Order: sequence, then C-alpha cells, then structure tokens
Amino acid sequence: MNIVVVGTGYVGLAQAACLASLGHRVAGVDINEAKIADLRLGKVSFFEPGLPDLVKAGLENGRLTFHLSQAEAHAAIGEPDLVFCCVQTPRLDDGGCDLTAVFAVAKESGKTFKSTVFVLKSTVPPGTRSLIRRELQNDAIEIGSNPEFLREGKSVYDFLHPERILIGAETDRVAQKIKEAHQGIEAPIFVLSVESAQLAKYAANTMLAMRLALMNEIAIIADCVQADIKDVEAVVGSDARIGSKFLRAGAGFGGSCFPKDVLALADVAKECGCESLLIAPIIESNDRQPSKFVQKMTARLGTLAGKRIAVWGLAFNKDTDDVRESPALKIVELLLMGGATVRVFDPKAMEKARIALGDRVEYATSSIDALKDTDALATLTEWPMFESESFEEVKKRLRAPLIFDGKNFLPRERLEDLGFEIHGMGLCAKHLRRPRSI
Ligand code: UGA
Repeated sequence: MNIVVVGTGYVGLAQAACLASLGHRVAGVDINEAKIADLRLGKVSFFEPGLPDLVKAGLENGRLTFHLSQAEAHAAIGEPDLVFCCVQTPRLDDGGCDLTAVFAVAKESGKTFKSTVFVLKSTVPPGTRSLIRRELQNDAIEIGSNPEFLREGKSVYDFLHPERILIGAETDRVAQKIKEAHQGIEAPIFVLSVESAQLAKYAANTMLAMRLALMNEIAIIADCVQADIKDVEAVVGSDARIGSKFLRAGAGFGGSCFPKDVLALADVAKECGCESLLIAPIIESNDRQPSKFVQKMTARLGTLAGKRIAVWGLAFNKDTDDVRESPALKIVELLLMGGATVRVFDPKAMEKARIALGDRVEYATSSIDALKDTDALATLTEWPMFESESFEEVKKRLRAPLIFDGKNFLPRERLEDLGFEIHGMGLCAKHLRRPRSI
C-alpha cells in the first residue's frame, strides 16, 4: 500500500518505520525541517530502542521517505491508500484536548488528496470526527480511527506484537484498508465505530492510570500501618480478575499520555453533562505522589536545607529519554525548593532534563559520579543499569548508606545485607517484614 504518515514524533515515526518494515511504501511528513533533514540521513532525534535500525532499513530499501509537506509526499508516492495523522494533541489549561495540529493536518490532506482514508492515530476525544470532516472539506475522503497502544521505549515491539489492533471505521472499506495495512501482524482485531474506538482508547489509558493511582495510594496507607506494598501487590495481582501487570506503586506515574488522556476523558464527561467523580481525581492523586516522597526524604534527613542529594533517573520511564510529566523532575524541583543541592544522572535523558532544570542542578557523568559528596541517593527511574550497579562502590561514595527508592525497584534485601537503609513508597522496615522463610 501507499501510506502517508504525518508527524514523526514517538508515535508517528514508529508507525512509519514499522509500516515500511511490513512492506508498504511510506512517506513520513513533518513540518520540522531539522528533523526531516536528520531523518533523511537516518538520524532519530530521540531515544527509542530498535527504531533507528528500522528507519535505516526503510531508507536503504527505498520503502521509507521523509517530506516537509503532504504535497511533497504526494509527489513522491502518489495518491495514498491511507493517511495516518500522528501529530500531538496536548493538554489545554482546562484539561481538554488541543486539536490545532490535527485540524491543520486534516485541512492539508483535504486539499492535497483526491480520495483517501484519513486515519486518526493521534489520541482525540470521541466526537472529533465531525470536526475533522469540516476541516477536510472533501467528501471523497473517508475517516477512520486507529488508536495506538505504543509504550515509549517499547514502541517498535508494541507495534509489531500488539495485544490488539483497534479500528474505528465509517465504512467496511475503511476497516478493510486499515486491516490491510497491518497484514503480517498476529493480533485480535476490533472493528468498531469511530466513536467507540476513540472512547476505548481513553478508557484503556484511564483504567491503567487508575490502577497505578490506587496502588500508589495504598502504598501510602501501607506506610501508615506498617504493611509492605510489595507483598500487597503480589496478593492483589494473583487474582486473575485483576492481573499482576501495572500494579507497581511508586512516587507517581508520568509521560505524555496518561495525565493528558485521563484529563481529556474527564473533560469529555463534563461536556456531555455527566461529570465523573472518579476520573479527574486520578490525576490529582498522582500529582500528590512526588511531594509525599519528598516528605519522607525530609522526615528521614531532618531537613533538606544544606543537604546534597544524588538522583539516579530523570526520564518518566526506563528505555526512553522523554521527561514529559516525569515525577523525577517534580521531585528534583521539590528538593531544590527545600534547599538541597541536587546532583543528577540519567543514561539517556540528561539533554532533555537540562532544558527543564538548567543550571540549578549539578550534572554527573555517570551513576557513580552522581554520588560525589552526597548525603543520600534517590532512584527515580527504573533503568536496569541502576539495579546492577556495584553497591559496594555506592556505599563507599555516599556519606551515609541511605537510599530513597521512588520506584520501589532496587533489590532491597541484597542492599540491606550490604548495610543500606532503603526507603520507598509503602516499603516497610526490615524488622517489620514477614520472615524470609515464609
Ligand atoms: C501508555 C500506555 O501504556 C500505552 O498503551 C499507550 O499507547 C500510551 O500511553 C499512549 O497513550 O500513547 P507510556 O505512557 O508510554 O504508554 O508508558 P507506560 O509504560 O504505560 O508507563 C506510564 C507510567 O506509568 C510511567 O511513568 C511508568 O513508570 C509508570 N508505571 C507503569 C508505574 O508506576 N507502575 C507500573 O506498574 C507500570
């Protein structure tokens, strides 16, 4: 098939490169000239495992090209079977979804193509279809929806091995075309109306975010009643009706999707006149987690003023350099506000964190270098390299063997055996934990 993918961010580029790897002829479009110049050379401007290799392969076999406009893409591959709209839909101040970029793409598609299928990959509220129809101003173009379930850091894997392919279609022809684009991928396919597909996407992200927010609150209760959240997670997750994934508590979740999508769904509910009592508070609860974590640090350290804190991890998740809505950045800000000096290290996100933190923190060259003259270590992104660090070395460098684990991911018992004191979210003290033999 001939496919145009508009937007070459985390979602669009994965979409374009993966579709090319399935054998389609794909034209990626972005208005950012520097980005397109880099992509033409095979350079990807963000960290996403496996993606640069797929982009290079697509460029080499000629199935993937990059352009500055849809008209340029049209000239390169002819009339497309599908146009995937993968541009950003940021959060508005009132929680709603900013559709400016999506509208601009639709308008250009309407003018550029005669008859194609315009597929909304960007996460947009149910009801957007009629607005897109207005922007297209071309009744020969049909509209579809194909919400994505790509995790940053795992987007290539998630595209090629999805749990499901979700299609929202106005007609059978639209559904058929979107299906055809995914030929070669083994996964259940759901064909729904456009509105149902869009609501299902919001519902999935909101459900995941709600699980996390709930477990994070239960971790706070665990701290108060001296229970251990790791044990609680194991028991709750062993119920097949609940399942064990996405139950790991910590100092809050982040990323460009959950906070934005949950608030957008709350806004949709409000607009419909059925304001939700559950949805928006998920984000209020999550926004509180970083300060809960910093309160624990302050309580243990006596004060933050004058303390030097090492921070490992700034990205919102492992395997990405993305710091959008990262709890780690919020925690660093709170530490600074408390008067601490913060020395940070992240294997991939230093450059992006620097934009947010500027010269207010010290930037280390390695995880060990981050520990220089510090009173305690805070681990805020679960990069595997941190787990396998030499903690004998860490102990020698820190002024005191004190770790605050915002992700509850470090090998706690091993570290305690080495003499570390570990504090997490809902991790109870060693002497109160269940006997190891049980
Ligand atoms: C999320 C969804 O998982 C994707 O399915 C969806 O397509 C995407 O949003 C989107 O809408 O574009 P993403 O935000 O990239 O993907 O990453 P996740 O792996 O879902 O992690 C989100 C946050 O939850 C991270 O801060 C992560 O550390 C946190 N998390 C995750 C926990 O705190 N505990 C867990 O058990 C799992």
